[in-house]
Amino acid sequence: MAAIRDHLGRTFKTLRISLINTCNLACTYCTYGNEESKENYAEHKAKALSVQEMLNLIKRLHGRLDLTTIRFTGGEPLLYKELTTLIKGASDLGINNLNLTTNGLLLQRMAPALKAAGLRSINISLDAIEPLTFFKMSRRQGLEQTLSGIEAAISAGIEVKLNTVIMKGMNDNQVIPLLKYAFSRNIKIRFLEIMAMGHLHGKTDEHFFSQKDLLALISKHYSFSPVNRSDSATANYWQTEEGHHFGIIANESQPFCTDCNRLRLDAYGNIYGCLSSNNPVSLIETTDAASLDFKLEAALAQKQSLKFTGSKLSMLHIGG
Ligand code: GTP
Ligand code: 5AD
Repeated sequence: MAAIRDHLGRTFKTLRISLINTCNLACTYCTYGNEESKENYAEHKAKALSVQEMLNLIKRLHGRLDLTTIRFTGGEPLLYKELTTLIKGASDLGINNLNLTTNGLLLQRMAPALKAAGLRSINISLDAIEPLTFFKMSRRQGLEQTLSGIEAAISAGIEVKLNTVIMKGMNDNQVIPLLKYAFSRNIKIRFLEIMAMGHLHGKTDEHFFSQKDLLALISKHYSFSPVNRSDSATANYWQTEEGHHFGIIANESQPFCTDCNRLRLDAYGNIYGCLSSNNPVSLIETTDAASLDFKLEAALAQKQSLKFTGSKLSMLHIGG
């Protein structure tokens, strides 16, 4: 059977699955207010696929797309109770590149079990290394827990990268301290330009801190040169004279949509062609091969080919 391709000839072997719509942080760029409603979670639970239903869906998608990579996201995926069962199930399907994007708060306890289930790598969000700024960004305590989670993942033999969303006037004073921390622990760190998602959608963002701003700031402290970007990567990377790597995910100022190979699935069995799709396609009750193809093609028709154009959904729902 011919591979499924979109109008640019792209194939889609990377699936990002958002497992849950709640989080134990309330980051200013992600959630509008301080509170996450419990009602919201009850509604989510009622609609969400069971772990077995999710695995069946992954199996059918793998059968058609020949997936190489899955990234589990949230909300906060470590709050999803069946996470290790899901990872083990995906691994048993022969999908070897299994990854997680998390805030790391619950990682210390869970890292060994995640490794045993087959997890290969974890991207951990860390927006500050100084407690007050961590609180200002996330509206919760948790810096110590996150740092312990990072250590636990490294000790368990899981590859770790850090994601830092930079907001001008909020945490741009953390760029150099975070670089020093990451370099001292030999971890790759990526700085993210803020994206117009959820409550930031359609607003000119006073907090935007660009790739250019980041490079200018970092160049005052380090000498570095660019590293070739690998295909479909989200980040541009640089290497310092001392041999450390850092990256920038420049969604706004240097979009990387053209060679995107990702599809997204949410906890309810809806597929999204793109982070900016507002019209997900439900795969529930899609039982035969022809209707699966039809729905995948409908999702792919929504893919952006040039630039991320923003979305009313927050990352909490669509999962980064
Ligand atoms: P690696 O393969 O480990 O580099 O993972 P990743 O960068 O794809 O995953 P992660 O979950 O860490 O995502 C980091 C950021 O990349 C997200 O917050 C987004 O800013 C950006 N990103 C990920 N996927 C997409 C996508 O499909 N479209 C756009 N526009 N941005 C994306
Ligand atoms: N802009 C940029 N990054 C965001 N994230 C969540 N919301 C936004 C946003 N509006 C980040 C998280 C996590 C990654 C998956 O997405 O911090 O690291």
